[in-house]
Amino acid sequence: KILILDFGSQYTQLIARRVREAHVYCELHPHDMDIAEIRAFAPKGIILSGGPCSVYDPGAPSFDERLLELGVPVLGICYGMHVMARHFGGEVSAAGKREFGHAELEQTDSTGSLFDGFFVEAKSPVWMSHGDHVSKLPPGFTVAAATANAPVAAIQDPARQLYGVQFHPEVNHTPRGEILIDTFVRKICGCHGHWTPGQIIEDAVARIREMVGTDQVILGLSGGVDSSVAAALIHRAIGEQLTCVFVDTGLLRLGEGDQVMATFAENMGVKVLRVDAEERFLSALVDVEDPEQKRKIIGNLFITIFEEAAGKLEDARWLAQGTIYPDVIESAGGKTGKAQNIKSHHNVGGLPEKMKLALLEPLRELFKDEVRALGDELGLPRQMVWRHPFPGPGLGVRILGKIKKEYADILRQADAIYIEELFQSGWYDKVSQAFAVFLPVRSVGVMGDGRTYENVVALRAVETKDFMTASWAPLPYDLLARISTRIINEVRGVNRVVYDISSKPPSTIEWE
Ligand code: XMP
Repeated sequence: KILILDFGSQYTQLIARRVREAHVYCELHPHDMDIAEIRAFAPKGIILSGGPCSVYDPGAPSFDERLLELGVPVLGICYGMHVMARHFGGEVSAAGKREFGHAELEQTDSTGSLFDGFFVEAKSPVWMSHGDHVSKLPPGFTVAAATANAPVAAIQDPARQLYGVQFHPEVNHTPRGEILIDTFVRKICGCHGHWTPGQIIEDAVARIREMVGTDQVILGLSGGVDSSVAAALIHRAIGEQLTCVFVDTGLLRLGEGDQVMATFAENMGVKVLRVDAEERFLSALVDVEDPEQKRKIIGNLFITIFEEAAGKLEDARWLAQGTIYPDVIESAGGKTGKAQNIKSHHNVGGLPEKMKLALLEPLRELFKDEVRALGDELGLPRQMVWRHPFPGPGLGVRILGKIKKEYADILRQADAIYIEELFQSGWYDKVSQAFAVFLPVRSVGVMGDGRTYENVVALRAVETKDFMTASWAPLPYDLLARISTRIINEVRGVNRVVYDISSKPPSTIEWE
């Protein structure tokens, strides 16, 4: 396994993903991780990430330099290379020519193996982002590669297995960067590529069995990817000892409740307790308009209902959750507030202590794409595994203002038509998230010979990598036309469809 120390680069998670894509297990830890912990972790290699600081800034992130003397291979990226160079007696200074973006890399010394297989031609494109450079090599090191503006674009001391690169091999703009990372972790560090979905499942199943023994486990199933994969995985491990609780809030998508039951209860034989709580949710939300208040009411009621259901399972000792790695990672700047925020509804807060439940989180170490690969391997339906994200409060934040059953029914139908057309045109997988929004705004229309005075449905589709920023998707006009015609013809209560052309920021993805 590989240890990645995070010095605050915005790309650190990408390093971890590239290592995992080489089927090697890795963990991401803050730069100041304790040396005793590092020894206990026993990495076969260490990667030091980039970071926004200069090594000679007063507040530059520090680390325990003894890790460079452990005798395990180290790859320093950008800032990581600078700290390594300084430690071994080199010098770092502000570069005369700063370099950002695309550059052409050329190998200058082929004795080390870091660039094995990297160059198909004499030069290879890389992504640079730096203001500092190594101005004096540490003793024992050579320059392994250079670009026009960075004469020291990579350094190495193959005898001690120390490597540094000034560019970012982890980003997509360095097209062959994944080869470099693969070479480092497998060839130089000697890691085996065991981190495959099949192997992850096998290990997780063994671990869950060992942890849980003969205890009973409960899990809140939402129908989303994470809790679904967690349920399938835990079920594979302990079968009948798992009980899932599925709360139908009345704010789910068309047929969602039945789909969840069909997939888990009928096809997989998972015990699922379905709680139909539509009326309770709708009556708790009567006349509530404020989005934040709606979220709070939905979140709290969800927990109450989940607790009631869980309370009936007398001997449950464990609460399982579909927490995934990005929710857990502590970046150099502390936990990302956003991830915590978004998840506050899913993680059934307070329950573990109250019911004296221990937490079982079998996906804690996995990235979303790994969770999806696991879902496929566990035989979950493709459309469940590759579904767009759906917010915890569901349609509650897609019906603007006051929520009524009638509105939810209209929205469900419109949304289902929209998604069906996206599937049929091949656009569903091209966008990151798409959904319909109900606007309780009435406008005048004409249908046949009659005048109509009905509601508006807005369509939203965005492209994004991380959901922090997003751009609206350029759906083709003919597709939009077809969707609009179908919704207005097939859904009673809607006589106008509009397309949302706002990006995030300044808008958000959801409307509330
Ligand atoms: P916004 O609207 O903030 O959404 O741009 C970003 C992403 O987060 C999802 N989202 C939520 N997910 N509970 C969730 O589990 C929530 O309360 C929530 N609010 C927004 C949203 O669907 C998008 O993918």
